[in-house]
Amino acid sequence: MNNHDLQSSRQYSAHPLLAVKGLTRRYGGLVAVSDLNFEIRAGEILGLIGPNGAGKTTTFNLLSGHVKPSGGEMLFDGASIAGLAPHAISRRGLVRTFQHDSFFRDMTVLENLVIAANRQWRKRIDRIESAHAIAARVGLEKHLDMEAGSLPHGMQRLLSVGIAISTKPKLLGLDEPLTGLHTVEVANVLHLLRTLCREDGTTILIVDHNMKAMMGICDRFIVLQYGKLLAQGSAEEVRNNPEVILAYLGTTQ
Ligand SMILES: Nc1ncnc2c1ncn2[C@@H]1O[C@H](COP(=O)(O)OP(=O)(O)OP(=O)(O)O)[C@@H](O)[C@H]1O
Ligand SMILES: [Mg+2]
Repeated sequence: MNNHDLQSSRQYSAHPLLAVKGLTRRYGGLVAVSDLNFEIRAGEILGLIGPNGAGKTTTFNLLSGHVKPSGGEMLFDGASIAGLAPHAISRRGLVRTFQHDSFFRDMTVLENLVIAANRQWRKRIDRIESAHAIAARVGLEKHLDMEAGSLPHGMQRLLSVGIAISTKPKLLGLDEPLTGLHTVEVANVLHLLRTLCREDGTTILIVDHNMKAMMGICDRFIVLQYGKLLAQGSAEEVRNNPEVILAYLGTTQ
């Protein structure tokens, strides 16, 4: 095994956990996702980036079954998931969070995590134990009795991640998990994602506009613009790609 093989086998395998082929979603005349082809390798942290409206959330919605494709194929773990309902896709191990938090706002942190553990565990005692373990993992163990809706924004994001990882997904999709977090919270989430990837073997697909964090955590990137794949590669390759630079400078940001 040469150095390159050693490095790539340590980070992730070449086996695609997810293969997207010709994926397309139209809204009337607008093509939100256009003939998209990419793979997610088992064990990697893949960053999905691109300017506002590029099609990132639509791609997430297609992968998780919340939006049906107008065309194309999605193979997860070798089997087609195109056209399956969200619950069927998440049962296979592809779980995503939403750009806007989704949990029961008038229930406590503990109650939310117990509900999230329902699929994994049958007995209530096991669910409660799992909820405590997840809370500790995302740093919410001191806030178990707080109403989820009254948590500070950063903690709400952490709760969303906690709910998503309760079922031990093979592929965890995170849509803007860092939005509105302060520096310490960002560092906590990044640490959690690294542990999930390295110790639990969870493959991660992440969308976020925090480029510094993204460049620091992602093994590889795919870049979307107008629903199309504009570029893919390492942080270095993507950062120095003139088309990517233009795509970002061309926006109001
Ligand atoms: N339900 C819908 N009906 C019509 N158009 C939609 C719908 N959902 C998304 N779009 C359009 O599809 C395009 C892609 O939107 P999408 O939300 O996927 O972008 P995004 O990359 O997630 O952007 P952001 O970074 O702002 O979250 C946009 O032009 C958007 O207006
Ligand atoms: Mg979005």
